[in-house]
Amino acid sequence: MSREIPARDRVIVALDLSDVEAAEKAVWALGDSVNFYKIGYELVMAGGLHLAEDLVHSGKKVFLDMKLHDIGNTVMHATKRAAKLGATFLTVHAFPQTMRAAVEGRGDSNLDILAVTVLTSWDDGDLKDAGYAATVPELVARRAAQAEAIGIDGLVCSPAEAKDLRQRLGAKMMLVTPGIRPAGAAKGDQKRTMTPSEAIKAGVDYMVIGRPILAAEDPKASAEAIVTEIENARK
Ligand code: C5P
Repeated sequence: MSREIPARDRVIVALDLSDVEAAEKAVWALGDSVNFYKIGYELVMAGGLHLAEDLVHSGKKVFLDMKLHDIGNTVMHATKRAAKLGATFLTVHAFPQTMRAAVEGRGDSNLDILAVTVLTSWDDGDLKDAGYAATVPELVARRAAQAEAIGIDGLVCSPAEAKDLRQRLGAKMMLVTPGIRPAGAAKGDQKRTMTPSEAIKAGVDYMVIGRPILAAEDPKASAEAIVTEIENARK
């Protein structure tokens, strides 16, 4: 089962909001119920990197979901900047050259690199269109093995893939999953979901959760209930 991380730190709230003001309000409302926030493309385009710095300065952890993929030199320098900014997690696509560059850029900083194996919006037909002969599970397995060999710190995966990846990879690599829904929560557009306790049992280390917290009537209470569910699942 997964490593020793406080339950509160295992919940990463996805700040999928279109402006910094709304994100700041959400962070303020959640208070000390959570410690970790994910900032993605939308918020970055709206000034989210300043918010990332503010969050780091206020003692929160930041997951920069940039899914980098470019020539090695560019990825390496961008990763160095993310480490300097104080981010805790940064995503890259799981192409060997890209992953090697990110590991070089991260150096011995506190930044952990997470690789995205195959986007969950892709199926075998999309891979074929893009020129790949492999199926999704084949490519996920291949890229996971490459990520481990290169020294990547963790993988972003769907909850459905977690158990198999945990068995394949052993305990060292972190597994980070979206698609988490507490029992009774609306699924929205997520199709293959797991509850927080099911995810912990599948070997997941961190969960990226957006709407079940941010769209709840009482976001803080919802976050606290999820943290409690994780604590209980680990007993
Ligand atoms: O609101 P919800 O909990 O569904 O948000 C999940 C977060 O995880 C969003 O930021 C979404 O972009 C991200 N994500 C996902 N599925 C993936 C990869 C990332 O839902 N396969």
